[in-house]
Amino acid sequence: MTLSAEYWDRRYTHGDLGWTHQPHPLVVEELEPLEPGAPGAGGGTALDLGAGAGRHALWLARRGWAVTAVDFSAAALARTRELAGQEGLDVRTVQADLTDHQSPSSAYGLILLAYVHPESGGRAALLAGAARSLAPGGRIVVVGHHADNVGRGVGGPSDPEQAYAPEVLVGELAGLTVERAERVEHTVGTGTGVRLSFATVVRARRPAGP
Ligand SMILES: C[S@@+](CC[C@H](N)C(=O)[O-])C[C@H]1O[C@@H](n2cnc3c(N)ncnc32)[C@H](O)[C@@H]1O
Repeated sequence: MTLSAEYWDRRYTHGDLGWTHQPHPLVVEELEPLEPGAPGAGGGTALDLGAGAGRHALWLARRGWAVTAVDFSAAALARTRELAGQEGLDVRTVQADLTDHQSPSSAYGLILLAYVHPESGGRAALLAGAARSLAPGGRIVVVGHHADNVGRGVGGPSDPEQAYAPEVLVGELAGLTVERAERVEHTVGTGTGVRLSFATVVRARRPAGP
């Protein structure tokens, strides 16, 4: 990953946090149909990797998931704990670097990676580790910037290798059943008006059998 925990701490402490308030619509579209009590939901446990200030972790907890939010930014996690405490939500925070953190095996009914862009080698290891942490029947949802954003759309890494290509993520989620893998065009509001942005959305499920 190219941006340090200190960089993110500064952003969460002093930056414009507008984007951290509402869950991302593409994430909501994927997570809304998933029920914490459904078969394969791992006892209603969810893991948000690179959770930031907690917009998705808090949203999932409001819907009944017991959420673990992992991030290396202490400032982001402090904000998550503050908001979870205000609402009495079931959100546990773990401060860890995703490049060397391994979550428990077969533990989670739902794992989310939203707009977390490791370098390409780090991404493969991260996704393989996340797949191992899925309970049988559990799902992983990955949403992030598509490489078409580089030069054409809004946001994301300047290195196309760090952006998400649906077919690359599918290869990195070996052993899972891919339910959706798409490039999605959407719009984002910016200081200079509404602009086009390109995202990758992947949803995959660990087979329920042994
Ligand atoms: C663009 S933000 C997205 C946050 C959140 N997923 C969301 O959608 O609001 C990327 C997050 O990934 C975290 N992050 C980046 N690299 C990380 C690493 N190596 N270990 C842990 N967290 C990391 C950053 O601290 C930041 O909170």
